[in-house]
Amino acid sequence: MKIWISGEIVGPEEAKISVLDHGLLYGDGLFEGMRIQAGRIFRLPDHLSRLEGGARALGLELPYTIDEMGQIVVETARAFGQPQAYVRLVCTRGKGALGVDPTGCTDPQLFCIVTSLTLYPNEKLASGIDLITASVRRPALDALDPQIKSLNYLNSVLAKREARLQGADEALILNARGLIAEAAVANLFVVRGNRLMTPPTTDGALPGITRRSILEIARELGISSAEISLGRVDLFQADEVFLTGSGAGIVPVARLDGQRVGQSGLRPVTKRLLEAFPGFAERMGVPF
Ligand SMILES: Cc1ncc(COP(=O)(O)O)c(C=O)c1O
Repeated sequence: MKIWISGEIVGPEEAKISVLDHGLLYGDGLFEGMRIQAGRIFRLPDHLSRLEGGARALGLELPYTIDEMGQIVVETARAFGQPQAYVRLVCTRGKGALGVDPTGCTDPQLFCIVTSLTLYPNEKLASGIDLITASVRRPALDALDPQIKSLNYLNSVLAKREARLQGADEALILNARGLIAEAAVANLFVVRGNRLMTPPTTDGALPGITRRSILEIARELGISSAEISLGRVDLFQADEVFLTGSGAGIVPVARLDGQRVGQSGLRPVTKRLLEAFPGFAERMGVPF
């Protein structure tokens, strides 16, 4: 693991941040998770642009420019030196007085972690993972907009914990209206016939970079797609279900709440997308 912090690249023991940082005290900050595949940082500019959008929404002044942050990610990736890895770029509100008021936090902090990450064992990637429907719902857009990739991830943490306690791999999170938002840290896709469907961000899905990529790859492959509201029943009626995320990759789903979703065995659309992804990642990746 390599960590860029305060202009230096260090190991995890040396990377320190203040206990008075509002990122720690209140989850006040933002992050990006990026995939490094075949020696390229996947869609680095898109990740930085999402971070910048979130910072604007939170009124958080990023301490570095987009170009400087890109350089920081590249330098840390180089220091780690592996062709497959995961990047975590974090910006916190910085130190301040106790109390939620962010106006006294004048020194936002940025750090970048590059490490290896395996979210699901390989055999699960082949056979499909088990989901449970989480009892916690995604906050409404006017409570804590899920489009902002903030450090406040307790909602996802609790959903994931529930899944693990029930022996499942991942949680399906619904919004307050009972529509599917996404999984704890991944977007969800359903295939029915030759049509690919994913919930719109207005239903509580993060505008995932992998999600967008899958929609673009589908267009290139002539697979029709729609951003459309979905319920649990759509999973049971689906031919294929899969999750997407920078950490997760493209992960087939086998069961929801113990019940089979999609066809077992070969999943043709998921397979085509999986096969097309490495070429797309090469085109869309920034070498380091
Ligand atoms: C809540 C949530 N949804 C979806 C995703 C997938 O987004 P991306 O493909 O940009 O990694 C993530 C990524 O970590 C996430 O945290």
